[in-house]
Amino acid sequence: MISVARKIRREERRTLGFVPTMGALHEGHLSLVREARAMCDVVVVSIFVNPTQFGPQEDFNKYPRDLTRDASLLAEYNIDYVFAPAVRELFPPDFSTYVTVEGLSEQLEGASRPGHFRGVATVVAILLNVVRPDFAFFGQKDGQQAAIIKRMVRDLAFDCEVVVMPIVREQSGLAMSSRNEYLDDSERRAAVELSQALREAQQAFAAGERDGNQLVEIVRSNLQKQPMIRLDYVSVNDAETFEKVETIEERPVLVSLAAYVGKTRLIDNVILKQAEAAVARI
Ligand code: PAJ
Repeated sequence: MISVARKIRREERRTLGFVPTMGALHEGHLSLVREARAMCDVVVVSIFVNPTQFGPQEDFNKYPRDLTRDASLLAEYNIDYVFAPAVRELFPPDFSTYVTVEGLSEQLEGASRPGHFRGVATVVAILLNVVRPDFAFFGQKDGQQAAIIKRMVRDLAFDCEVVVMPIVREQSGLAMSSRNEYLDDSERRAAVELSQALREAQQAFAAGERDGNQLVEIVRSNLQKQPMIRLDYVSVNDAETFEKVETIEERPVLVSLAAYVGKTRLIDNVILKQAEAAVARI
């Protein structure tokens, strides 16, 4: 569905792009900003550490916050607006309306972090209503989050198109994350094994492995060798519905994991597609 307001804006060729973030910006965030800048006439970036998506034992209080540094990074990208509201602006004391995306929110990150996706869906719904973008940009780094937002936008008829961008990695393979700031040198070296283990699964897939459990085992056994890593989950799921996949067929699947490196919880994933496997074999 496309609203009259959006149609008029498109005809006037003034599209609005929106990149929601929690700040502590890095190249992953900036890849979304760059794409928004390339695609849209007006670009809004939000910086808001959303309390409703953190569990009571999680890192809301110590989550890295540096608005001055973030704003100066964004200045280089010719952003039109930075939206950095206070908590009470989005969540007044008597706030009482939440968005739950059923089914998709219950496994993987949702199982390990109860209430997390309810907080994410709720704040993104509020932000989309405040900003009213034509395009909203999300990263594949949080693959389940991207799928949940897409579903919410479709189900609730938000007048916005969701754009999902690939994971940006450090040269070592480590997926960029604001939480990498918590890692000391030896933890950072260990954390590289997460992407390495996913790469092993990707290579097995390219060599013809189609058994989801086998791929899980490859990742698990690689990470078990690492004393600094404690695996939370690794799973092979349909990339869109997030149903568990036993045998990989035509549809793309996501191999995703969460693991503690020391006290820091990190996530990573890789998409496996038949067509790409065929190319990789040539
Ligand atoms: P945050 O973790 O700050 O991430 C903001 C956006 O950047 C998300 O869409 C995320 O997937 C993307 N991103 C993070 N690291 C990335 C990487 N290495 N490569 C590509 N994209 C990356 O995700 C959130 O904030 C929040 O849940 C939010 C959507 C803002 C709601 O509060």
